[in-house]
Amino acid sequence: MIQKKVALVTGVSSGIGRATATLLLDRGFRTFGTLREMNRASEFSTSLELVRLDVREEESVRSCVQAVLDQAGRIDLLVNNAGCALVGSLEETSIEEARATFETNFFGVLRMCQAVLPSMRKKGGGRIANISSVLGFLPGPYQGIYTASKHALEGYSESLDHEVRQFGIRISLIEPGFTRTSIGQNARVASEALEAYANERKRVLDAIQKSIATGADPGAVASVVLEALTSRSPRLRYPAGREAKFLSRLRKFAPSRLLDNGLRKQFGLQAA
Ligand SMILES: NC(=O)c1ccc[n+]([C@@H]2O[C@H](COP(=O)([O-])OP(=O)(O)OC[C@H]3O[C@@H](n4cnc5c(N)ncnc54)[C@H](OP(=O)(O)O)[C@@H]3O)[C@@H](O)[C@H]2O)c1
Repeated sequence: MIQKKVALVTGVSSGIGRATATLLLDRGFRTFGTLREMNRASEFSTSLELVRLDVREEESVRSCVQAVLDQAGRIDLLVNNAGCALVGSLEETSIEEARATFETNFFGVLRMCQAVLPSMRKKGGGRIANISSVLGFLPGPYQGIYTASKHALEGYSESLDHEVRQFGIRISLIEPGFTRTSIGQNARVASEALEAYANERKRVLDAIQKSIATGADPGAVASVVLEALTSRSPRLRYPAGREAKFLSRLRKFAPSRLLDNGLRKQFGLQAA
């Protein structure tokens, strides 16, 4: 009997993680999804196998990966989706708030990869898709720490891909633009509000909320994750959606002045 490939997706309670787990199940993968609150388990299809995970906690990561290996014997595909947003100007953001964002968006991915890689090496292969963002290659005013965490994730993933290729393991970065999920409602706001930033901050945050509300469907990002995980020769970067592809090309080929002006306009910042 052919064994189904085993996928593990972090953060399936909503948004892109939920859409990705649903699509992988649909395509015949044995799929494990993680939740922080297991009391929500009844909201999900019984064929999705749920495991508790908080990516900020060492022990939680270890026992989540062990639980999947105990039940399925292997992990072929890992989708590091769990993430959180932090908004506010960089001057308003405390070191603790910045550190907390990195704990989830950067160190959370590092922990998951370190926990899963030994079993992938042992079986001679695997695929990891890390959910980055267009803010992994562009600036994000008033989301500067979130942006920095995704830039860090890009450098990490690109380096890791070179190190693990010898074991038949490949890493891909998925770079969505604005996507219609709960990320805006779930975002933390920097606690030290400074009057000097109040007007601009409000304009930018309003523009971000509007862009998320009218953004791409999370299912479209899930399709790109599936493409990256199943491609015979996976690429390192997958901008997800029309907007993200356009921005990725702009970043590579447009004069930096043009990109700078366009970005300020998009976020409602004064033309410089
Ligand atoms: N939406 C966008 O516009 C957009 C654009 C580019 C990239 N992204 C990226 O896409 C990914 C998914 O975000 P989303 O838009 O789908 O947002 P979302 O609806 O808020 O989902 C985030 C998921 O991550 C989980 N999570 C958060 N902190 C966690 C932790 N410490 N441990 C384990 N799970 C945790 C959440 O679980 P709980 O329910 O327990 O909080 C939730 O399942 C993130 O990496 C985000 O940066 C989103």
